[in-house]
Amino acid sequence: MSEAQMASVPEAASVPELASVSEAASVLELASVSEAASVSELAVPSRVGVVGGGRMGVGIAHAFLLAGSQVLILERDAEAAERAQAGLATAARRSVERSTTQEDESALLARIDVTTDLSALGASGLVIEAVPEDLDLKVSMLTKIEAVLADDAWLASNTSSLSIDLLTATLTRPERFCGLHFFNPVPSSTLVEIVNGSQTSVALTDAARGWVRMIGKTPIVVKDSPGFASSRLGVVIALEAIRMLEDGVASAEDIDTAMVLGYKFPVGPLHLTDLVGLDVRLGIAEYLHSTLGERFAPPALLREKVAAGQLGRKTGEGFFTWSE
Ligand SMILES: NC(=O)c1ccc[n+]([C@@H]2O[C@H](COP(=O)([O-])OP(=O)(O)OC[C@H]3O[C@@H](n4cnc5c(N)ncnc54)[C@H](O)[C@@H]3O)[C@@H](O)[C@H]2O)c1
Repeated sequence: MSEAQMASVPEAASVPELASVSEAASVLELASVSEAASVSELAVPSRVGVVGGGRMGVGIAHAFLLAGSQVLILERDAEAAERAQAGLATAARRSVERSTTQEDESALLARIDVTTDLSALGASGLVIEAVPEDLDLKVSMLTKIEAVLADDAWLASNTSSLSIDLLTATLTRPERFCGLHFFNPVPSSTLVEIVNGSQTSVALTDAARGWVRMIGKTPIVVKDSPGFASSRLGVVIALEAIRMLEDGVASAEDIDTAMVLGYKFPVGPLHLTDLVGLDVRLGIAEYLHSTLGERFAPPALLREKVAAGQLGRKTGEGFFTWSE
């Protein structure tokens, strides 16, 4: 499976149920307005652009909004722009209702803009691309975005699987580009993978660490490589659990209990595979198999279940039976 074909593979960690942490704490007091290209760890960029106002884009914009940034979402057409605007306004209102920000709603709304005009991104100190997972689309968008940005602005992609070096191919300032892999749902997911391409500058990695902390999340720094850190490790554990089930080592319940009680996993690897979707996990395993080798070979049981339509919670049957 090529990286471009990964477009159809949703993110492995789309598991809202696992989200245990409340919305990003507002750090407005620390987010003093900085120069566009500040690498200070003490402030998020004052103007943050987000390209693609879908599920992830709205969440990312919301996180920077609460941290004090002026946010601008670029969407492809007026209808999508309206949806993004409504989604972000709703998220802002909920943050006020839940007291996860000390600002009032009008102050937050005043810092939200949505546009279909790419050139409007030109004033951004940081732009995060969050369009669908399609290599050609992302390369094309990143090239166009870079062309309107100031030379000292930063650019990032929220890709969940594509190589940062491939996305960098046509950029003229690749040292100012990295992956910022947020998880879904953004408000309650506290991990962000900073993915360094081979040309990403140390200054950007350092700045990104600071931004991630400023929006109330925890950064990890990962070299550009298939599956980054999260999918690579999560999937290999799941595949071994499936092979153990095939080998009759223990029941699905007991394999999961081994990890929950023995290793303090929040949920077992088979339960998690049911939540993510067996088809999704199979797609990612095939990709990692093709790039990282035999240890990611999908077990026959996983293929059989996917072929039988047993995709996990979404179909009512996976490694466990789901009643709703
Ligand atoms: N959904 C997840 O669980 C998840 C988790 C982590 C990372 N990601 C990654 O985040 C990215 C976005 O995923 P998503 O789930 O938010 O997708 P989505 O489909 O919800 O949102 C994508 C948005 O991009 C917009 N868009 C498409 N073409 C555009 C263009 N040319 N210009 C501007 N906007 C455009 C669409 O209108 C849509 O609103 C993908 O790279 C995905 O792999 C997704």
